[in-house]
Amino acid sequence: CGGFMLTRKKLLKLLEQPRCGEIICLEETSSTNLVADRMIRDNRLPDGTVVVADTQKNGSGRLGRSFYSPGRVGLYFSYIKVLPKNAENTGLLTSFAALAVCSAVNSVCGIQPKIKWPNDILIDGKKVCGILTKLVSDTKSNTLTHAVIGIGVNVNQTAGEFPEDLAQKAGSLRIALDREVDRAVLCAQIITQLDTLLLEKKALCGDASAYVIQLRSLSCTIGKTITIAAPDGEETATALDIAPDGGLVVKTASCTKVIRSGEIDDSYR
Ligand code: BTN
Repeated sequence: CGGFMLTRKKLLKLLEQPRCGEIICLEETSSTNLVADRMIRDNRLPDGTVVVADTQKNGSGRLGRSFYSPGRVGLYFSYIKVLPKNAENTGLLTSFAALAVCSAVNSVCGIQPKIKWPNDILIDGKKVCGILTKLVSDTKSNTLTHAVIGIGVNVNQTAGEFPEDLAQKAGSLRIALDREVDRAVLCAQIITQLDTLLLEKKALCGDASAYVIQLRSLSCTIGKTITIAAPDGEETATALDIAPDGGLVVKTASCTKVIRSGEIDDSYR
């Protein structure tokens, strides 16, 4: 259960299928996304290599925020995907990871999380996971070569231990289930789900509509009145749908449009 260090040996034992990706476990690091990025630039890494840390000193989130990463209670890892040359659907990578996390949490914990567009996983309205995907390109050829999919899951935190600024919004699997969850089991399950999903040809290189259907059914953003932060202020809109490329279809007072990034106000009305 939580509290023990995550080791490569433990994870390899739990992984269900043979895989080519390496597993690298660190006790402490600044950010697994940074380590993964550095490793991509320094080495030739097998597809599906995963960098896991028991704690991060400088875990990063979207929009320049930090990701709270206390020791041995959460899961903090980066999954490196070597991109096929004809990868068309790289804009859906964060959504693919969200589907993998939802499915893993469902099978390990027996609860169905929801996806708050674009990158948060919620249970009972509280954020239990955030995803941050970075695309890496080869500067010489100017082509995308890898994606670093950073996943942070609040697993065994108790209600009282989140810092004040997160206390209202953050939850954990332990809080939702009222019991501890084995981080290694969950980590191995997320990796297995990601391996399976990302090796499907249609995910990155073909018709991804089947995944978009799943995203719709798991979305807790569709149907909500939302506030979109825009460079020139805020705009109120209704979230209508997930677009085929993973964007959010919204209806504002003046038009219907697809937004591809943005900050959705948490205080759903
Ligand atoms: C967010 O909520 O805005 C995204 C959070 C992503 C956090 C994960 S933890 C592992 C990886 N390393 C990081 O520094 N960030 C991601």
